[in-house]
Amino acid sequence: MPTTGDVYPLDRDQVPTHWYSVGADLPFEIPAPQPPPRPEGAADGPRNLRPQLPLSLYRQGTGTQRYVEIPEAVRREYQRWRPTPLYRATQLERELETPAHIYFKFEGTSPSGSHKINTALPQAYYYSRSGVTELVTGTGAGQWGSALAMASHPYGMDTTVFMVRSSYEQKPYRGTLMRLYGARVVKSPSDLTEVGRAALRENPDHPGSLGIANAEAIEYASTRPAARFSVGSGESHVLLHQTVIGEEALLQMGVAGEFPDVVIGAMGAGSNFAGITFPFYREGLTEDSRLRFVAVEPEACPKMTRGRYLLDYTDFSGVTPRSKMYTLGHKFAAYPIHAGGLRYHGAAPIVSAMYDNKLIEAVAYAQTRVFEAGRTFAKAEGIIPAPESAHAIARAIDEAVEARRQRRKSVILFSLSGHGLLDLGAYDQFLAGDMIDSRPSDEEIQDSIASVL
Ligand SMILES: Cc1ncc(COP(=O)(O)O)c(C=O)c1O
Repeated sequence: MPTTGDVYPLDRDQVPTHWYSVGADLPFEIPAPQPPPRPEGAADGPRNLRPQLPLSLYRQGTGTQRYVEIPEAVRREYQRWRPTPLYRATQLERELETPAHIYFKFEGTSPSGSHKINTALPQAYYYSRSGVTELVTGTGAGQWGSALAMASHPYGMDTTVFMVRSSYEQKPYRGTLMRLYGARVVKSPSDLTEVGRAALRENPDHPGSLGIANAEAIEYASTRPAARFSVGSGESHVLLHQTVIGEEALLQMGVAGEFPDVVIGAMGAGSNFAGITFPFYREGLTEDSRLRFVAVEPEACPKMTRGRYLLDYTDFSGVTPRSKMYTLGHKFAAYPIHAGGLRYHGAAPIVSAMYDNKLIEAVAYAQTRVFEAGRTFAKAEGIIPAPESAHAIARAIDEAVEARRQRRKSVILFSLSGHGLLDLGAYDQFLAGDMIDSRPSDEEIQDSIASVL
């Protein structure tokens, strides 16, 4: 039976007391979001948009404070399973015959199975304090929907989750989990909203996308007075909440007596990547720092490596403010890969600005390559990674192999953002040799981006 290597636990009282806002340490401003253009012919005057965010979350996303205190009630909830463990993947190192030291921070120990609960909890807390009784959202692979469903329950709030159809069909037990937590789960595109009906008219077999699921959630929430749309990634307050991952990992690397040369995270809209990297960015702000950060995306949805840095909408129907971000265009429909959480068309504005300023790197991997890395890791370390997280593993393996080639020691840290126990159907397909890779053509990407220009 394979076992994981050294583990670096922390005490409960070492759960962070503050979230970290990287904006305070960036040498440039993050471009502010722009309100959507007024439809042609529409009269001047206030727009018919009600504020979506409680003021506290809005301030967290726009403030310039370096640290934001975590409410005690939220910290107590975090302490039910945090600090999450940091492991050294000693068996994987042995198998790769690498001089590199490979560490991973395992967020799959949370009750909902991934890092997403780190922001679901504070969001449920702030929304319920502002009088909201129902949270509505879109989810890709279901990790975010599961987290929000679980977090809403203690506050007596209902949850409605629009789940991307391709994932809904690939991962039926994600739906079960959300329903167990009390959520209503709707396959997206659905006939509950105009956005969904339009997508179905265009293609009755539409696989869905996170952009459409979010657009459905926004439309649905707008018809219910005490409901609000809650979002699981991309927004600055979400990235802020996830920094508990990196803050803990910093302490744990200290216990291990090492500091990473490279920190790696899978990249959906960027909250997991931000969570593991931002505190290390702060600590690595020295002249002679060799520290690198690598965001890993799927070849099927290459917003950073092949997208453009433009103002774009975060949702399919274009009702959200436009943000400057690396994007493939908000109508981009990625091939339905199993890492549904990475099928999002854009990268968070903060992560995009850091990429544009060359503070971070981005790479893209093909699906079969990612599953191969997931299998290698599972055999060596005994933990089955979520397909999203396996993107970070693929990169960590490449970094370790490169260290072997160059005969140099390298310290690698990655976020194992979730477990893959509800993704076994995808692993089955991989083991049967039935998995295919998909890479959008340059033309497809250009056409999709042209619709934004
Ligand atoms: C396990 C896991 N890791 C990583 C991600 C990437 O998302 P984000 O970049 O939004 O954190 C997701 C998204 O659903 C996920 O489920």
